[in-house]
Amino acid sequence: MTLAVPEIIRKKRDGEKLSCEEIQSLIRHYLGGEIPDYQMSALLMAIFFRGMDAEETGTLTRSMMSSGEVLSFAHLPEAKVDKHSTGGVGDKTSLILSPAVAACGLRIPMISGRGLGFTGGTLDKLESIPGFRVRLEPAEVQRLVEQEGFALVGQSDNLVPADRRLYALRDVTATVESIPLIVASIMSKKLAEGIDALVLDVKTGLGAFMKTPERARALAAALVDTGWKMGKRMAALITAMDQPLGLKVGNALEVEEVLEVLGGGGPPDLCELCRVLAAYMLWMGNAVDSLPAGMERYDQVIANGQALAKFRSLVAAQGGDPRVIDRPQLLPQAGQSESVVSPGSGYLSVLHAGKIGWAAVLLGAGRMTVQSAIDPAAGIVFFKKIGDPVEKGERICELRFHPGASLEEARNLVRDAVCISPEPVEKTPLILDTIVGDFLFPSVRENAGITGR
Ligand code: URA
Repeated sequence: MTLAVPEIIRKKRDGEKLSCEEIQSLIRHYLGGEIPDYQMSALLMAIFFRGMDAEETGTLTRSMMSSGEVLSFAHLPEAKVDKHSTGGVGDKTSLILSPAVAACGLRIPMISGRGLGFTGGTLDKLESIPGFRVRLEPAEVQRLVEQEGFALVGQSDNLVPADRRLYALRDVTATVESIPLIVASIMSKKLAEGIDALVLDVKTGLGAFMKTPERARALAAALVDTGWKMGKRMAALITAMDQPLGLKVGNALEVEEVLEVLGGGGPPDLCELCRVLAAYMLWMGNAVDSLPAGMERYDQVIANGQALAKFRSLVAAQGGDPRVIDRPQLLPQAGQSESVVSPGSGYLSVLHAGKIGWAAVLLGAGRMTVQSAIDPAAGIVFFKKIGDPVEKGERICELRFHPGASLEEARNLVRDAVCISPEPVEKTPLILDTIVGDFLFPSVRENAGITGR
């Protein structure tokens, strides 16, 4: 059957609703190579401007999910849980949470994505570990989840291939910040994992796709609703993404920071967010009966080294060099570095995460085109966070790069990302709100220590 793609693009361009058949055919024909990227790009832009209602979003999600195999772990008695972030700068929590929660006995079949726009991607971070393979066959994912308790993999020809293609196209066509497209992208991956429960980290602020808490709440509600309708236990935290999370941005640099946290150290903001997200995963997976008990359990597997041991074992099982766990200097290292210093004395009041994210992309940590290669060593190391006192000329961060990076543009962006205030600056909260699926009765929420909707 030939599909009248220009007519479908026109319909969406003019704000009309697409039928279930149209959406299903679009995905099928796109993957079959009959719809070129230029037509799909035009449709994505039309969706970006005109949106999709809940029914269209649900159909798109299901069509993308079933574009490949859907995993099932029904034979394993433990709960299958996952967490997914809507995209931020310096957000490496997936690499910490998955081994930690697996060390607590739950199963995590995590399908992630690559860098998107100015945000980093779990797959690119993992691939900075020499030898680490993220494109596994569904049978291998199945075996890893059975043997290791978790797997960290990407979309492939057999796992949500529709998201693999559309994700890469959205990255380079300025069509990322669309609620229905984000919902379909995230939920198609998560629903293909065969999980019981999902915790979402919905970012808001200067380094997030949702710039305001209201937009973030709308995205969180759409995500929770889509998963809930498909029978999954769902919760979403709305978290601040105005400055980078932690102190390191860039693929190998972020793996280094992951190893610090799994080793019992690491920056306070990253540690706090991991504790809370882990507690939700453990609680929603019925491994603990309250969030405080979940945090305690997480602290235990960090302190006794079980979370780090799990990560080491998975790195080896996915073909990575496990020596990096004890010797992070074996991770790719940048050939050159340059400091950015404070223009004045006072307090750091702005560290614009979006500009920092783009600066890292310019240094080589992200992509400008579908074909762009990543420099795994490129990135930025920070010495200050918002609220910290600084002296004029004191180092705020260090850029790491190889020759050929767009250094001047990156340097200018970082300088532009920084503001110094003469007055002390109050540190703002990291976790702004919680939205949980309707499966939770108010009394259960109270007992678990949850506030918010
Ligand atoms: N993460 C995803 O997997 N998809 C998006 O569209 C945004 C963040």
